[in-house]
Amino acid sequence: MKNLLMEVENEVAVVTINRPKSLNALNSETLAELNETFKEIEKRKDIRVVILTGSGAKSFVAGADISEMVNASAAEGRQMGMLAFEAFKRLEDMPQVTIAAVNGFALGGGCEISMACDIRVAADNAKFGQPEVGLGILPGFGGTQRLPRLVGKGRAKELIFTTDMIDAEEAYRIGLANKVVPNAELMDFCKKMAAKIMSKGSYGITLAKQAINVGLDTDLASGLQLEANLFGLSFATNDKKEGMTAFLEKREAKLTDF
Ligand code: CAA
Repeated sequence: MKNLLMEVENEVAVVTINRPKSLNALNSETLAELNETFKEIEKRKDIRVVILTGSGAKSFVAGADISEMVNASAAEGRQMGMLAFEAFKRLEDMPQVTIAAVNGFALGGGCEISMACDIRVAADNAKFGQPEVGLGILPGFGGTQRLPRLVGKGRAKELIFTTDMIDAEEAYRIGLANKVVPNAELMDFCKKMAAKIMSKGSYGITLAKQAINVGLDTDLASGLQLEANLFGLSFATNDKKEGMTAFLEKREAKLTDF
């Protein structure tokens, strides 16, 4: 891949968007590469957690690539939006747990790709924002949909309409960032979080993720029905037998399904 790096170690894939000269801005080529990479990861049983980050110390992702968009037609703009829609939806729904390690600017498409991850860990130098309306466009990679779902309608509108850039502490305060850690400790923290998640269970996490993602996009009764069905499905796993037997035998469970 020309614009991405991927390393897999101890069942954790670190995917790095690697265009530091443009602060890791997302052009169409990078979006297509992300889609292909996520397509590969979702099939791999040897990857249980994905950490997504940006190259360099300054920026996670500074948005969609403005130099590509400046002369793009309406049809090309839509095509770019659809490319991001496919790649980010795949990221959002993959069976693995996904963590955005936000190491600097997460603006426009950068904030949007972080919101397609399950968890956002912000370095203390991180800055989040949706500057699109200042460029004469609107957020096009999920910002108008995922931001209100994360921080509420009023705060999302304020961030999008004012284009205010907020720091990591403010992102944490409003629920956009799950944690804030010193920049130098960011990757280590995310890897420890990945190890903790993997030690707690396996297939149960995938099912819970599905129940949350699908449930939040539907009415309460349908979400509760889905949860009951997935709850039943979890009873068919080896992990359920092992997890409950281990509890009753007062020993550590060895959960292995994925
Ligand atoms: N697209 C293309 N190039 C970008 C870029 C972007 N989104 N963001 C930064 N760059 C480039 C700059 O043009 C610059 O390139 P040159 O060295 O060739 O001049 C290089 O990265 C370094 O950037 P700066 O010199 O501007 O660095 P800075 O520290 O002074 O400022 C910044 C950093 C505040 C992030 C500033 O670069 C900036 O405002 N970037 C644009 C942010 C933005 O508007 N993002 C939203 C894009 S639209 C979008 O994302 C739509 C959507 O919903 C998907």
